Amino acid sequence: MLRIVVMNPKGGCGKTTLSTNLASYFSTQGAITTLMDLDAQGSSIFWAHKRPELANHIQLVDAHNSPHNVTRSWAIQPPRNTQVLVLDTPARPDLANLSPLLREASAILIPALTNEFDLHAIVNTAQQLQRSLPSQKNIGLVFNRINKGLPYKKQTTMLSKEMALPVIGSLRDSCNYIRAAAKGLGICEMRGSHYQTDKLDLIRIAQWCEAQNEKRDKRKSQKEGTQLLRHIDPDSIILASTA
Ligand SMILES: Nc1ncnc2c1ncn2[C@@H]1O[C@H](COP(=O)(O)OP(=O)(O)OP(=O)(O)O)[C@@H](O)[C@H]1O
Ligand SMILES: [Mg+2]
Repeated sequence: MLRIVVMNPKGGCGKTTLSTNLASYFSTQGAITTLMDLDAQGSSIFWAHKRPELANHIQLVDAHNSPHNVTRSWAIQPPRNTQVLVLDTPARPDLANLSPLLREASAILIPALTNEFDLHAIVNTAQQLQRSLPSQKNIGLVFNRINKGLPYKKQTTMLSKEMALPVIGSLRDSCNYIRAAAKGLGICEMRGSHYQTDKLDLIRIAQWCEAQNEKRDKRKSQKEGTQLLRHIDPDSIILASTA
């Protein structure tokens, strides 16, 4: 399963926009997609309920209104048939509660606005994440609401280097996202050439997540292979080769 966690303790940086657009993209690719909303505001669930009847199906997990009233993140499970799981998280999350999900993630995306205050805030977030998940190399920054007219490149490049976190993509500041969200759709489900740039931006981010998942699967099967070798009785190899 491809598990994508979208997180940033700062409010209004685009977590729901990125989560819903990724869920929409993967659903258009034919993947059985589940969108899990961990935010009490329930914006992702609100978006999903607006989806037109004929739109690709996205399974929902409304973590705050689950029938069992489960609030511990590790106890919330997506439907078993899920191929892609996208988690939308709240601002100021309980990191201890979130960490089991972060550890299991194929990719952790941090959407961030490029103003002084938001950039300053992600330094803390990144340090916290790197402290609690030191071996995790699957964390990427997505700069959001990019406006080419504003000078942001130098600062974001410096920040990415300083934090040793890759910038894996960006989203333009565009009313295309607002138009799509109003219909319960993602950018990749919208028709018209003026959505093309935004579609490519999103696909690039989705592909990075898929690549992280492949790397994770490879590491897992290598580890399992090594463990299997350790369990093989050397005598049985000699017997097999002389038989
Ligand atoms: N790339 C974009 N272009 C234009 N508007 C955007 C873009 N990204 C987000 N927005 C708008 O900014 C607002 C905040 O975005 P969003 O709800 O995705 O942030 P959030 O991080 O989920 O917020 P919260 O912390 O409250 O959950 C919304 O009105 C959304 O439509
Ligand atoms: Mg949100």
